[in-house]
Amino acid sequence: MKKLIIANWKMNMTSVDVVPFLEEIFPSVEASNADIVIAPSFPLLSVVRGQLEKPLMLGAQDVSAFSKGAYTGDVAAEQLVDMRVKFAIVGHSERRAQHNETNALCNEKMLRALEAGITPVYCIGESAEEKKNGETLAVVKKQLKEGLKNIDTSKVIVAYEPVWAIGTGVTPTAEEIETTHAAIRKIVGAHARILYGGSANEKNAAEILHITNVDGLLVGSASLNSHKFASIIQTV
Ligand code: PGA
Repeated sequence: MKKLIIANWKMNMTSVDVVPFLEEIFPSVEASNADIVIAPSFPLLSVVRGQLEKPLMLGAQDVSAFSKGAYTGDVAAEQLVDMRVKFAIVGHSERRAQHNETNALCNEKMLRALEAGITPVYCIGESAEEKKNGETLAVVKKQLKEGLKNIDTSKVIVAYEPVWAIGTGVTPTAEEIETTHAAIRKIVGAHARILYGGSANEKNAAEILHITNVDGLLVGSASLNSHKFASIIQTV
């Protein structure tokens, strides 16, 4: 399966940063065998869209659970399609924690994305406490069961992002990633891409990408530095 690397810029960058950043990573993107997606904040989608003649694809960091209407602050899947967005991150742990997003809400968001032809990137993963209690597999299985209800799993991307690994510089061991990804694979089948996310960077990317059932990376902080992100791309 072709590897997929997604830059999750979170709430960073402004319009002046975008073009220089993309120019700097472009040679690595062109030389890479991976699919590369940039997921900026909503206001920057049109700026990145202006650069899409390059072999890059556009992702959004969220999508509304509603298709259109009186939903102030929401962005509909159809509006994302208008911006040439191909992927939408759904259920990132920061949204689950800061905006109380549930598996059921994520399910609605993914259904709207799929109806519009956008591939959802469904983020799942256990907290530090759940890991300590040995609940990792039970937690991700529940997130998958509830979040992917009535959804053709071959149409989604799953990103395994242990909450305790996000932004901390700490990652699971290769064995832990392999075990969890194997459990996810059993549920989503052979055709869904399964990404790893959580402190993935230019130093550990090659090793993580070699683990069985790791089909790519969802990269946060290391995707904000063009040199670091370019070296991650170069590992594929
Ligand atoms: P990080 O974030 O790479 O900064 O840990 C990853 C993510 O939250 O998607």
